Amino acid sequence: MIFTRRVSKVKEMMNKLTTKTPFLSEEEKENQNNHNKWKKKASLCFIILITVLILTLGGTSSSGWMFRTRIHLHAGVILESPELTRGVQAGNAVESLEAVVAADDARCSEIGVSVLRMGGHAVDASVATALCLGVVNPMASGVGGGGFMVVRSADTLQTQAFDFRETAPLAASENMYENNIDDKYKGALSMGVPGEIAGLHKAWSTYGRLPWKTLFDPAIRLAKEGFMVAPYLAGKISSNEAKIRNDSGLQHVFAPNGELLKTGDICYNRKLGLTLEVLANEGPKAFYDGVIGEKLVKDVQDAGGILTMEDLKNYDVDVTDALAVDTMGYTILGMPAPSSGTLGLALVSNILESYESSNAAKGSLGLHRFIEALKHMYAVRMDLGDPDFVDISKTVADMLSPAFAKNIQEKILDNTTFPSIYYMPRWSQLQDHGTSHFCIVDDDRNAVSMTSTVNYAFGGGVLSRSTGIVLNNEMGDFSVPTEISADSLPPSPSNFIRPNKRPLSSMTPIIILKDEQLAGVIGGSGGVYIIPAVAQVFFNHFILGMDPSTAVQSPRVYHKLIPNVVYYENWTVIDGDHIELSDDRKQFLVERGHKLEPKAGGAICQFIVQTLKKPNENRKMSHDHRQVLKGMLTAVSDPRKDGQPAAC
Ligand SMILES: *[C@@H]1O[C@H](CO)[C@@H](O)[C@H](O)[C@H]1NC(C)=O
Ligand SMILES: *[C@@H]1O[C@H](CO)[C@@H](O)[C@H](O)[C@H]1NC(C)=O
Ligand SMILES: *[C@@H]1O[C@H](CO)[C@@H](O)[C@H](O)[C@H]1NC(C)=O
Repeated sequence: MIFTRRVSKVKEMMNKLTTKTPFLSEEEKENQNNHNKWKKKASLCFIILITVLILTLGGTSSSGWMFRTRIHLHAGVILESPELTRGVQAGNAVESLEAVVAADDARCSEIGVSVLRMGGHAVDASVATALCLGVVNPMASGVGGGGFMVVRSADTLQTQAFDFRETAPLAASENMYENNIDDKYKGALSMGVPGEIAGLHKAWSTYGRLPWKTLFDPAIRLAKEGFMVAPYLAGKISSNEAKIRNDSGLQHVFAPNGELLKTGDICYNRKLGLTLEVLANEGPKAFYDGVIGEKLVKDVQDAGGILTMEDLKNYDVDVTDALAVDTMGYTILGMPAPSSGTLGLALVSNILESYESSNAAKGSLGLHRFIEALKHMYAVRMDLGDPDFVDISKTVADMLSPAFAKNIQEKILDNTTFPSIYYMPRWSQLQDHGTSHFCIVDDDRNAVSMTSTVNYAFGGGVLSRSTGIVLNNEMGDFSVPTEISADSLPPSPSNFIRPNKRPLSSMTPIIILKDEQLAGVIGGSGGVYIIPAVAQVFFNHFILGMDPSTAVQSPRVYHKLIPNVVYYENWTVIDGDHIELSDDRKQFLVERGHKLEPKAGGAICQFIVQTLKKPNENRKMSHDHRQVLKGMLTAVSDPRKDGQPAAC
């Protein structure tokens, strides 16, 4: 059932997306010859390295947003080529039988696809896409941040979880912010040890087929030669003016002549380009035990931070099996703690499943039950923390237990909601921020779901002048004993700071299987709103039967338990669409005592679905579970941000 209200015609026009495909350099051709594995595919697909997008818009609608400019990779250079993205494009979705990328920026999706066209593994494409995002959306993620990556290998049928979340420096301590709580969020003291480069490299070492160096080229060019500021970035620059003006590094990049960059302006971060060049040539060692790390540490210490070379040398990516949750007839594969995402989604889904009716999640009543399940989940999840430091085994077992879910379900009434205290919250809620998410499925059906972040927009508000790197403020995701929170609950001891510990997170990158075949990839950005958003996209498509595009676009609701308010979307998004929960739904919730508030914001989700042939044919074919089936891939980038997916 669709409960969306759409008022804009702008989107269709926006989707006349033209992709220009330039060529490999001589050096890259040489690399290519050295790599027979991808040579064959390279001849099949047209090869691109740089991607130039032109968003052509035939006209304007009467109201709303009017971005009618060209986005191109190089300032002043537009490379023409007859080759277009081959997938069929409709709205913010593309379809392909081969391979797809759904990132929250069109250029980065195209760059990911260019890597896949060269025969790259989904993980190769992830490296190039992530680096691109760190350049063109530097407010959300980058090599100064960290994240989580879930990789499903079509070869081994194993799914691995790469945890490269930022880590508390060795000099950090439980009470380090007792004199100034602001330092937890602002400035260099709020920085955790960055993990992104280590994480990308670890995954690439396991799965990568293309040379590490090649994967950096597009991002290096974007940073050095300039990229066009897209509307979403322009909005973040404008809304963070004070932060940018307060730091000479940020000002240098985002207000180069004293004026803040606007949509359509060209942004340069040449120092970041040079940093990426060194990392391309020398690998992560340059960051964790070399010249880039030394420069970064100096800038951080000069700005009052406590990061040392020892911290960088000490940094380790945690690689484990993905957490697997069987629920509602699907297997969800995601991150274990310190991400609370997969566990949170598992609990909500198990609660709805325990109604033992396929209609439990349907309609207005389904929405009410979903909100109630969310409220219970938020109360439970704050007992989680970094499992290397605290024993969270009981909470983890509860969140995965159908019996525990059933118990909660029995406390949910269909005719009413309850005050926050009813859900027995013990600890102040984590309010994380920011982030970027992309999904990639390649020709072999290897799949990647990756969420990365610098926490708040532009992290702690410091850009290292010598490296061009935006410092994260991930220490803000720890709980500290002296913090008085808006929800007036005590901070969660499970999430207190320890040297080398990782803070709790809401990031929820997941891969979904049906009968052991790849069925979908989902994830989102938007901190505390991620779990409800990913859950709604999952239910919308897999349980309620919405098509992939509608599943993402459909108006969402959010709840944080305290305050006891349902936030419903009322949001005119960047492409002019108006997304708003229907009046029927609102009325139904109000009748049950929910307090409603409109929200022009929330989480951004990217989504890939694989549609296999008719179920009976699949059953015949998939007798041998080791046979990887290949169906139609549909990739969707959330219209709430200005991203577009791309297809091979
Ligand atoms: C500006 O930066 C200083 C540290 O350099 C910090 O104390 C202050 O809170 C910052 N102000 C804003 C508005 O970010
Ligand atoms: C909800 O239904 C229960 C019975 O299932 C009843 O006891 C209760 O009074 C009802 N509450 C409201 C607010 O209607
Ligand atoms: C919803 O948002 C629109 C602007 O996009 C605004 O005019 C309207 O008043 C909002 N409705 C509510 C109920 O807040």
